Amino acid sequence: IPVDTFDLVVFGGTGDLAQRKILPALFKRFCAGQMPRGSRLIGAARTTMDAAAYRDFVRGALSEFGGEAALDRSAVDAFCEKLTYVAIDARGDQGWDTLSGMMVPDRVCAFYYSVGPGLFSDLSQRLHRHGLVHANTRIVVEKPFGHDLDSARALNRELSQHFEESQIYRIDHYLGKETVQNLMVVRFGNMLFEPLWNAQYIDHVQITVAETVGVRGRGEYYENAGAMRDMMQNHLMQLLCLTAMEPPAMFEPDAVRDEKLKVIRALDVVQPHHIVRGQYTAADGHSSYREDVDNPRSKTESFIALKCHLNNWRWAGTPFYLRTGKRLKERDSEITVVFKDTPHSIFGPEAGRHRNELTIQLQPDEGITLGVTIKEPGPGGMRLIDVPLDMSFAEALGPDADSPDAYERLIMDVIRGNQTLFMRNDEVEAAWAWTDPIIRGWEARGDAPKPYDSFSAGPDDAAMLMRRDGREWRGMKH
Ligand code: BG6
Repeated sequence: IPVDTFDLVVFGGTGDLAQRKILPALFKRFCAGQMPRGSRLIGAARTTMDAAAYRDFVRGALSEFGGEAALDRSAVDAFCEKLTYVAIDARGDQGWDTLSGMMVPDRVCAFYYSVGPGLFSDLSQRLHRHGLVHANTRIVVEKPFGHDLDSARALNRELSQHFEESQIYRIDHYLGKETVQNLMVVRFGNMLFEPLWNAQYIDHVQITVAETVGVRGRGEYYENAGAMRDMMQNHLMQLLCLTAMEPPAMFEPDAVRDEKLKVIRALDVVQPHHIVRGQYTAADGHSSYREDVDNPRSKTESFIALKCHLNNWRWAGTPFYLRTGKRLKERDSEITVVFKDTPHSIFGPEAGRHRNELTIQLQPDEGITLGVTIKEPGPGGMRLIDVPLDMSFAEALGPDADSPDAYERLIMDVIRGNQTLFMRNDEVEAAWAWTDPIIRGWEARGDAPKPYDSFSAGPDDAAMLMRRDGREWRGMKH
């Protein structure tokens, strides 16, 4: 879909996120012809440097994080022509007149707040004061969007003083992942699944987002967040919403977000004994969590597993199990929908128990697998086995299939003015309203997370959470 000429101003333009994600994403969209003539990327940060120095900086970032596309020197040079830089003080006056002098009236302009939430308010006030906000202005804000319900509300209130809700793009990059969007197409673009997509036919749903990386380098942030605030409140919650929501009338921002909001609001209070928290310990020359955050008494969780229920007609009685953690034995993100047993087995008890499972794999490879039961080939009678009806996207669509990074898609959606894959204010608040009492409970009881070995599957209690219910985790196994 073509886009209009635009400007993207990145506050925090020399930061980690800009280097790793925003600049490479925009570069790839540029290579795909989606940065029309006249469009600009304006880096803005405190450091004093000129445009030439910023271009060098961006070249460095692209050679590290830009992948194969960045090997094309002439493409990088052409992209760099679209870059400029302004040294700006988010809390002072420096740079703001320069920035407003650069603006083209009424042009689509997105201000990307790639900075800590502590600066959101200062930036918003100054954008306003310097006449940088008009109907085609958008702002992009990164997580963490608040620390709890009160701070998220305060942030929403603050932003709403300067911008319309339709101008605010709250990023959850999981919504930009190809397979996450495919989940909606699989559910609502096929006749096959939706009639069975409810408590009558689905035994349970499990969502795993397991990472092998630890928190070194981000210790200060993570120690105050933990897995609950860093991953569960946002990424896993979004995956849960897309899996559980009712079909929206249209694939349009508010229609989709209304349905997601209903899911979050239907979440039951999670019982403390349905939650397992963990913290990784040292192994194989790798540091422990406590070493990584430099706090020998830390009670922050680097792993969490929980069981929750949705109080609504569709899902009454079907549990959702969610788990996420760092320094685990594999990188594995998947959603598995486990269907119920057939009501009666005509093959007798010796045929064993077989269940259909639909697995939506997000990482490391993307794909969707449907497990079906068939007859084991051979003359030995009716023996049943489960085999995958496998659809790896790379295989089905060919190795050259374009699977853009989440940030590529999301940045272009901002430019196009499409908020479908961004979180609305009430959604974020509802998610905090669900997590707040859980976290307050831990604090009140002084709960400490269970230690688990680095590169294991997390604490054994997470396996017990399933086994108590006669179930097992799929994907990363204990
Ligand atoms: C971020 C979290 O939002 O998502 C990180 O802050 C986490 O802690 C990351 O590592 C995971 O993203 P992805 O796309 O690598 O799964």
